[in-house]
Amino acid sequence: MTRLKDCRQYTWEEFDALPLDKSNELLQGEYKERDGIYHTLNAEQFDRQTLDRIYVLTNIIRSISKTKNGATFLMNRLRHKRAMLYFAQASTRTYLSFKTAADILGIRCTDVRDTSTSSEIKGESFSDTIRTFSSYFDFIVMRHKEESYAEQAAWALNCSDRPVPVLNAGSGKDQHPTQALLDIYTLRRSFEKNGGIEGKTILMAGDLNRGRTARSLSKLLALFPGIKIIFSAPHGFGMRDDVLSYLRDHGVEYSVSDTFLEHVSDADAIYMTRVQDEHDQSDGTSSKRSYEEFSLKEEHLKLLKKDCAIMHPLPRRDELDPNIDKDPRAKYWRQERNGMWTRAALLAITGDIEGQIQEYWRDLSRQASHTGIIQVEKDDKNWKPMERTLTLDHHLS
Ligand code: NCD
Repeated sequence: MTRLKDCRQYTWEEFDALPLDKSNELLQGEYKERDGIYHTLNAEQFDRQTLDRIYVLTNIIRSISKTKNGATFLMNRLRHKRAMLYFAQASTRTYLSFKTAADILGIRCTDVRDTSTSSEIKGESFSDTIRTFSSYFDFIVMRHKEESYAEQAAWALNCSDRPVPVLNAGSGKDQHPTQALLDIYTLRRSFEKNGGIEGKTILMAGDLNRGRTARSLSKLLALFPGIKIIFSAPHGFGMRDDVLSYLRDHGVEYSVSDTFLEHVSDADAIYMTRVQDEHDQSDGTSSKRSYEEFSLKEEHLKLLKKDCAIMHPLPRRDELDPNIDKDPRAKYWRQERNGMWTRAALLAITGDIEGQIQEYWRDLSRQASHTGIIQVEKDDKNWKPMERTLTLDHHLS
């Protein structure tokens, strides 16, 4: 059996050179064998079954949270746990959604958002900083500009005597796995009455070269058969080869284009992204290209399919016209809120309370079928009885 502490057999350099499936296996250790999730570091660590499981739990948590009793039950689950929100890069949504997700489960949070206030400024090494967090906290949620730091943190903790789970909230230009989880959840809900994600065409537009959300999302989309991806970016800002070769290896159909508008009518979902100019070199890379053409405007809405899902990880700039917000196809504000629910489900699985939540849900549903007192949903705000039954069946089977 692989164990967390097996990481001790490797130096960081040796570990970093391992193939990703091997390093992922070592990082999850014994949690892998018992179907748990320990660290959340990259999109590649998720399989389809795990995604489905996270989303079933997401729906249950959303539903339970609607009542005072349910919200209190959830809040008592992880009251004895603490989380460090270590955000060494700017964040609004990811930070707030992790914070509120933790609140839902009763986890108490502290943050470091300004590294000039941490001892890194005194020359402390990154791994010492992370070990220090693990002395006080049970989860470390981290965003960092360095691409491999989340993995390095997880490796260093596995090698220590007090490992705690690390959740990658964005690693440089590379990955944003929890954003991809909420993006897939949003797509799943958007296509619920329309055959699911399978077989759909997803158009991704913008600075795909440096946009970590599009990179992680592409890898998760590879888990859905029949998916087609169109990558639309200004010349020089296209999706990088490592993701394209991952898609080829997983049999995903994709095309690459340096135009945008001509593709919008083919798309079942359009995933807009902004210019990532915080990653510019001193040469002002971004200003060398015009992004004007890679913008979705109100006047383009007539070109879109009638059920097209318009998405954006946010924050937006000019690439997504605010006049689109009122169109029913605009899903980005829901997408933002879905971040809280999916992250709550992920924290619940990581904190090993999935079973308790399912049990509570089963009890509730038994009572509901006897008394009929629990409200059933009708639309996005309210649960449908059918979905509830399916959710339960799925869990009980
Ligand atoms: C994204 C990020 O930080 O990568 N934002 C987010 O987490 N919702 C996208 C971006 O900043 O463009």
